[in-house]
Amino acid sequence: MKDHSDIAWERWGQQDPYFGVLTQDKYRKHKIGESQAEFFESGEKHVTGVLDEIEKRFGGIHRARALDFGCGVGRLLIPLSRQFGRVTGVDVSKAMLEETSRNLSERQIENVELVESDDELSKLGSAKFDFIHTFIVLQHIAPKRGYVIMQNLLQHLAPGGAFFMHVSLRSIDSSVKGRLRWLRNLVRFVRGHFPYTHVPINVILRREPSEPAMEMNDYDLVRTLSIFKKAGAEKVITELETHGTYLSARFYSKIQAEGVS
Ligand SMILES: C[S@@+](CC[C@H](N)C(=O)[O-])C[C@H]1O[C@@H](n2cnc3c(N)ncnc32)[C@H](O)[C@@H]1O
Repeated sequence: MKDHSDIAWERWGQQDPYFGVLTQDKYRKHKIGESQAEFFESGEKHVTGVLDEIEKRFGGIHRARALDFGCGVGRLLIPLSRQFGRVTGVDVSKAMLEETSRNLSERQIENVELVESDDELSKLGSAKFDFIHTFIVLQHIAPKRGYVIMQNLLQHLAPGGAFFMHVSLRSIDSSVKGRLRWLRNLVRFVRGHFPYTHVPINVILRREPSEPAMEMNDYDLVRTLSIFKKAGAEKVITELETHGTYLSARFYSKIQAEGVS
């Protein structure tokens, strides 16, 4: 069953997909014509950086199959399709997947399949991937679901496969903004659970009345690392970064060739 964040993502896909992916004003619907090249360049840069980092730390990655979970409009799928034989893009929003499909056709990219997501990843069947990737996605999913999704994703890792994941972490921030984070989370909860509050809250926040909500969630570092360990990741490279009051982490790892214990 779809929850309120899934419904909001469908609306982002319909209303303003590029801004939904990277919330910078230049990627708004009415401006994307001018900024699309820059948008996709940011994806090229990200994918090159991630693959370089993994190969530098863990050695080469087999380049047969890759998966991008929460693929949005294909910003990262497109560069991945040039690096891997076959690539699968998974997303909960049909409208996002339709936009990805248009972006792939325009570039005549034919080695990508697109799959609508559920938390069990049931549409992936028994497929195994050499590289599993997810960036700025789990933070928008309630952790209770997100931990299950992480576990399910890692079950699709081929022996010797590598992964890159990104989560927002529970952080300690003593600034006024940081201490008021509970209030922001409360507003997000209210607008997510009580749809009729959505428009007035947008008006108060001086946003477009019809703009969908964008849920943000923090994950627990120990629980996240335990999931990686259980999937066979003995060594995990962690990069920390801050965005405003959010502390987030990028994880790079590769499991052993003999597979999961
Ligand atoms: C901020 S965008 C990032 C897109 C892409 N990863 C990128 O960096 O270009 C988040 C994406 O995650 C997708 N998403 C949100 N919840 C999801 C879920 N439960 N399962 C799969 N995808 C989800 C959204 O539809 C959206 O396309």
